[in-house]
Amino acid sequence: MSVVKFYKEDQQVPLEMHKVRVVQKLFLPNVEERVKNLTEAGNNTFLLQNRDVFMDMLTDSGVNAMSDRQVAASMIADDSYAGSETCNRLLKALQDVFGTKYFLPAHQGRACENILAETFVKKGDVIPMNFHFTTTKAHITRLGGRVEELITEEGLDPDILLPFKGNFDIKRLKKLIKEVGPEHIPFVRIEAGTNLVGGQPLSMENMLEVAAICKENGIMSVLDASLLQDNLYFIKTREEEAKNMSIAEITRKISDAMDIIYFSARKMGFSRGGAIVSNNEKLILKMKTLIPLYEGFLTYGGMEVRAMEAMAVGLYESMDEEIINQGPLFIEYLVKELDDYGVPMVKPAGGLGAHINASKFLPNIPHEQYPAGALATALYIAGGIRGMERGSISEQRNPDGSENYAELELLRLACPRRVFTLSQIKYCADRVKWLYDNRDLIGGLKWEEEPEVLRFFFGRLQAVGNWQEKLAAKFREDFGDSL
Ligand code: F0G
Repeated sequence: MSVVKFYKEDQQVPLEMHKVRVVQKLFLPNVEERVKNLTEAGNNTFLLQNRDVFMDMLTDSGVNAMSDRQVAASMIADDSYAGSETCNRLLKALQDVFGTKYFLPAHQGRACENILAETFVKKGDVIPMNFHFTTTKAHITRLGGRVEELITEEGLDPDILLPFKGNFDIKRLKKLIKEVGPEHIPFVRIEAGTNLVGGQPLSMENMLEVAAICKENGIMSVLDASLLQDNLYFIKTREEEAKNMSIAEITRKISDAMDIIYFSARKMGFSRGGAIVSNNEKLILKMKTLIPLYEGFLTYGGMEVRAMEAMAVGLYESMDEEIINQGPLFIEYLVKELDDYGVPMVKPAGGLGAHINASKFLPNIPHEQYPAGALATALYIAGGIRGMERGSISEQRNPDGSENYAELELLRLACPRRVFTLSQIKYCADRVKWLYDNRDLIGGLKWEEEPEVLRFFFGRLQAVGNWQEKLAAKFREDFGDSL
């Protein structure tokens, strides 16, 4: 473990193993402006302007801080269309990190998902996964496939303290394969650092077991490694088997077991872009022709060459425990601060960000009024903090048009890697605590404009009643002239 211990144990905080050399000025509009901004943004935090946001905790995607070495590498990018040296360097990094021979570039994670789905999914197919991700599911269902979520029961219980709540329920996986038949299952998707259940990791053991079951049944194993970086840290620190392995060794052990790995480099590798890697030439050849069609030539696949250089360096950095522990340690700090205060959090702390259990925070707001979405707007009013609704608004409706209410109504407070200081994290905790003490003032939301596809991105909602103005008035009363 590379955590620095403090002399005074009660002063123990996560210590950054980096220093800041480039900064961006932030603005915090006053609380009355915040209410106005929200109305203009249709009560959807995706539609807020960043100039109106103090702490942008919407996502960890494409907003992680780059290292000096990444920025330096981006200056030597080779933007020749064919035979690019940048492509060769990225291929080498992918080979070194994952041990995979082949690489297909794509402009980001969902583009990889599109290529995978277009190549392998047909109508009536079933794609088992520990849990769905929004874009993955949209690509599979678009082609007539069905997603089956096989996460363990405990994974959906925010209060159970288990180290690997992203794990597959192995029994259910075996049962499903028997019921559906392997011929209708083109691949099993293993999502590291399960996004929609609070960034909860899978154990190395579970990943390897799923891959072995796939092999036995002649089904492809596909690892979504977008959140692998945090997951690797949890394997290293929580799994007995991995205690004496390096992060690089853990990565290789996992990747050696998989048929295909893909990831969003907006998360994995502190950069932008996406990649599909494999050791299986046949599988790569099946997907290859779609890259120039949808993405760009095989040397860049829609990516900016500077981002590719940064990705190559970022992938090596992701094998350094002192670099990848910063995110999980800050998240753990924030979760503990709030949990100690009584705020219902997803526990144990996972990767990506801290997740508030909105159904428990706001027990009186029914699913139909979107508690997680309502809490997201309340937190923006309380502190200019932009979180992301990860609940029913993020779901797609059932084919018959009825609502498909989420199993978990979460407000995600992403902690982009190496971006926030601890005082900003403390500020966030302070505003959530205030909100918790004033939760009776928070009301629900209703649709004003609901798009058919990926409605959470552009949909517009309205507050039910004038609770937001009342919350802002209470803020003024309690905080005086503070922003
Ligand atoms: N897979 C996972 C597990 C993800 O978290 C994401 C993106 C994707 C695939 C798609 O990658 O954005 O590069 O197209 N998650 C982002 C988020 C959007 O905010 O959680 P992408």
